[in-house]
Amino acid sequence: MNIKVYHSAEEIGKAAAAVFAAQVITKPASVLGLATGSSPVPTYRRLIELYQEGIVDFSQTVTFNLDEYIGLSKDHPCSYHAFMQENLFSCINVKPENIHIPSGDSDETQGASYDCAIQEAGGIDLQILGIGNNGHIAFNEPQDTFTMGTHIISLTESTIEANARFFESREEVPRQAISMGIGSIMRARRILLIATGKAKAEAVYRMAKEEVSPMCPASILQLHPDATIMVDEEAAAMLS
Ligand code: GLP
Repeated sequence: MNIKVYHSAEEIGKAAAAVFAAQVITKPASVLGLATGSSPVPTYRRLIELYQEGIVDFSQTVTFNLDEYIGLSKDHPCSYHAFMQENLFSCINVKPENIHIPSGDSDETQGASYDCAIQEAGGIDLQILGIGNNGHIAFNEPQDTFTMGTHIISLTESTIEANARFFESREEVPRQAISMGIGSIMRARRILLIATGKAKAEAVYRMAKEEVSPMCPASILQLHPDATIMVDEEAAAMLS
């Protein structure tokens, strides 16, 4: 695990977007693993600029998103489908048929087909991740064991609390989500995890410095051969 400290979220966004751009320029049909939440937004903003400047072309790119809330339709404004349209897909030339996001219906069987689709696409070349205050990646919440495949999970109180800011009230936050599992994330050839702000300092410390444990799902990244953790000074505060 390689940890890089930056001065601001914007600086991280520029650096992460440069890695994504290089990936797509050198392999136009790259398979990109994408995330939601506030952490990847500056990266997406910069990627849109690079597309508009004619530097990156996403016409052959395939994308797989990490997760979705159960019970929200694609056009619900708080769904991750809507988030991705608004923050990236509507502003670049990725083909709609190359975009994959788990569905918010409660069909358990879609997990296996989602994992198969990732494999059939050749596996994820580059995965972007955020981290929850409780150490979750995607919606892999702290548990007794790591769950490998895409699965439906009940959200913890701390995640419901943290994500309430995107909804009108805490009561509106769905209680369940579907999430790519630890196996698909770990099989990505390269991973960038972004964490900013002091609320992430403890999760970053546990991910990087404590023993690998499903109680801090992000700690599994210690075992990934090419994972870069991009943090600002506040998120890095407990590391030194
Ligand atoms: C959600 C998402 C995660 C994300 C996390 C952190 O729970 N499922 O993929 O990493 O929030 O979000 P943020 O980047 O807004 O802090």
